Amino acid sequence: MGIRSKFIIIITVLSLLATIAIGYTSYMLSRQSAIAEAKSKGEIIYNYIEASSTFFGKDQYPLIKDLIDDRDTFIPELMSRFVVNRMEYEIFQETLEGYIFKQATLDPLWPDNKANAQEEGVIQYFASNPQATEQQGVMDKDGKKYFYTAKPIKVDKAFCLTCHGDPADAPADQRDIYGTENGYNWKMDSTVGTSIIYISISKTLADAKQSAMKIFFVGIGCLLVTIICIWVFLDRSVVAPIIHLSDAAKDISIGKNLCDSIHTDSNDEIGGLANSIDRMRISVNKLLKRTCPDRKEQKK
Ligand code: HEC
Repeated sequence: MGIRSKFIIIITVLSLLATIAIGYTSYMLSRQSAIAEAKSKGEIIYNYIEASSTFFGKDQYPLIKDLIDDRDTFIPELMSRFVVNRMEYEIFQETLEGYIFKQATLDPLWPDNKANAQEEGVIQYFASNPQATEQQGVMDKDGKKYFYTAKPIKVDKAFCLTCHGDPADAPADQRDIYGTENGYNWKMDSTVGTSIIYISISKTLADAKQSAMKIFFVGIGCLLVTIICIWVFLDRSVVAPIIHLSDAAKDISIGKNLCDSIHTDSNDEIGGLANSIDRMRISVNKLLKRTCPDRKEQKK
């Protein structure tokens, strides 16, 4: 393999690796910033839901309890913060696609709150790590990628069990609305569910992939142009003169064309080599004691 091919192969491989590395780094950086953005959006939404829940529990619920002092009367929209959260979020979601909030529960009263297999895994994690207060990560959901922030829901107050313990203890209205099959017999201090917020990152990741591909193809384009330039340069300035000098040296070795001076137009190493070969030609000629028709040429 010639010098030119070896050189081109090395340059191609190195530049290709560099282009892939730049494209990949660009994708990873965009992915990182998409995740950081989703994380902070998730925190804002979560904090708002928390604030609304705290206000409900601390300020609204005691007032409602004073007004409705009957253990069998239960108006979900007024008396459960989980219902308030769910219904408020349904309205919020109408204007904001790609943001999902769910109070995912292993055995819920409201069927839509049932945890799917992945959410069950998150709940399981909280159940076996009681100190954990949060879990975050990337999850596939309905073929799309989401960044999720999850927090545990624990039965941490005895009054939870008035509605989620023995169905016989629950308000009659609740039994009428939700039945007595699911959402009961929860245990004190158990982790029953997770409040989970999903922020879609599919579009941002697709955009990141697209710009990484653009960088890659622009890199390939530049690489092709560079290779063509290097090829032409090597051909004109290195390969062709070397072949010429090699032929001349071969001629000298067999005593041929000893009177034709050897020179190139270049002042670089190739030019130096040409001068050396020419001096060799003169010396060989002298050794063979030949006389050239043009003596000036020989003395040059
Ligand atoms: C007055 C009755 C009542 C009390 C007290 C109560 N809940 Fe509920 N809870 C409900 C109802 C009704 C729902 C159904 C929500 C819906 O329709 O989305 C619910 C829903 C939930 C959900 C969502 C899953 C599901 O069952 O649909 C969780 C989790 C939950 N409650 C946890 C708790 C915890 C923890 C406590 C104690 C801090 C508590 N609840 C206290 C009535 C109650």
